Amino acid sequence: MTAAQPEFRQPPGPTEPVSLGIDPETLARLWNLQREYGDMVSMTKPNGRLVYFVNDPAEVRRILTLRHAKYHKGPGFERVKMLLGNGLIVSDGDVWRRSRTMIQPAFSRQNVHKLMQVMVECCDRRAVHWADLAARNEVCNMTAETSDFALELILISTFGSDYERRIIAGGENPFAFLSRDSTRDLSVVMKVRQLRELLLSIIADRRAGDGANEFDFLSMYLQATDKKGQGFTDAELLDELMTLIVAGFETSANTLNWVWYLIARHPEVEAKLIAEAHEHLPNVSALSAASLAAMQYTQQVLEETLRLYPPVWLFTRRSHADDELEKFDVPSGTDIYLSPFVLHRTERYWSDPERFDPGRFAPTEKPKKDRPFFPFSLGPRRCLGEYFSFLEMKVHLGLLLPRFHMRVVDDAQPELELGINLRSATEIFMQPKER
Ligand code: HEM
Repeated sequence: MTAAQPEFRQPPGPTEPVSLGIDPETLARLWNLQREYGDMVSMTKPNGRLVYFVNDPAEVRRILTLRHAKYHKGPGFERVKMLLGNGLIVSDGDVWRRSRTMIQPAFSRQNVHKLMQVMVECCDRRAVHWADLAARNEVCNMTAETSDFALELILISTFGSDYERRIIAGGENPFAFLSRDSTRDLSVVMKVRQLRELLLSIIADRRAGDGANEFDFLSMYLQATDKKGQGFTDAELLDELMTLIVAGFETSANTLNWVWYLIARHPEVEAKLIAEAHEHLPNVSALSAASLAAMQYTQQVLEETLRLYPPVWLFTRRSHADDELEKFDVPSGTDIYLSPFVLHRTERYWSDPERFDPGRFAPTEKPKKDRPFFPFSLGPRRCLGEYFSFLEMKVHLGLLLPRFHMRVVDDAQPELELGINLRSATEIFMQPKER
């Protein structure tokens, strides 16, 4: 007598094939699937591949943490790979593990604190520009401003004084297209390739001893070694540097874009933020890791912005081994879709989910870990730049908001652009006024 095969536990779902991409149609489909079938949905793509859409917070956590080794990055990452080669965001398995172990120390709190002065300088440059616009009664393109701020910050944090000496020496910032062009199509890939020579020459000079006193991500990446004592090759460094720049500016830029928009529409939030900044940052010399950590309400505002507008609104994975979740079986080769956007706006977990309410993240509320909130992902592949980005965004708001009142020029709610990152589909313009 043979033992009975255990029944294959498959989530419910539609019988017709479903097309999924990284676009607005996909978000609409995911909402409908969740409404119709619940927390776990299975379906097939037109090419026959099995897909699970996972909305159960416990299963999301399990896939990203305990079981992460059974999953690689999923569909959609091919496009990112064209841009970022095999850098940390797209690599998998041993290549990823080696790079992550080598790079992680660069992001220690102690190291990030040393970059705080760069954050201040980047705010100063914006302040000069905004003061000029205010004096001339001109509007400010906040989408471009937040993008330029975050791009400049990551470039100076990465290249130190080589930013001024080598990168913008010709007058133009050769990375500017990254903040102006969100398409990430082939033309962008070509422009990234054209930067290789410049980066290779900076790397070669650094290897030859130039910039020995620099403190920046490049110097830390150059010093990093694996367990065999080997450092990154030039080709690996190029991929990791491009990954750092793209991962490090677009997400923070988008969050700052949304936060300025939300603040402008919520004067009561603005007043509390300003009061907090006056208390903890009365002047720039009061700036320290401790004063930023004390800015609890600013933290809440940023978290609530990331709940409503998580820049990485959709994660994909592909299982490369059979897995068994709590309630379902996952055969090897299954595509997994997880959406912070959907979970962050699900009524069951967040009452009145469309409402902007930083009070949800007050220390007296339910702890974050007990609610589905994962704008930075979870587990071993969790964002490396989380602390850097909170510091950057707190310095930005703490120094600029008490100085400038920004009024939204157009009252219409900006549409969402749902690509690899969630952005505002149109640029957000504001009227700056010095307080
Ligand atoms: C609001 C700001 C940010 C958000 C919401 C964010 C979000 C994320 C998410 C969701 C992932 C994981 C993606 C996935 O697993 O599919 C990720 C990975 C990563 N992020 Fe961030 N990020 C932010 C800022 C930054 C910054 C400022 C840096 C660098 C300075 C950075 C560097 C990275 C890197 C290197 C990874 C890859 C980690 C790995 O796979 O081991 N991020 N980020």
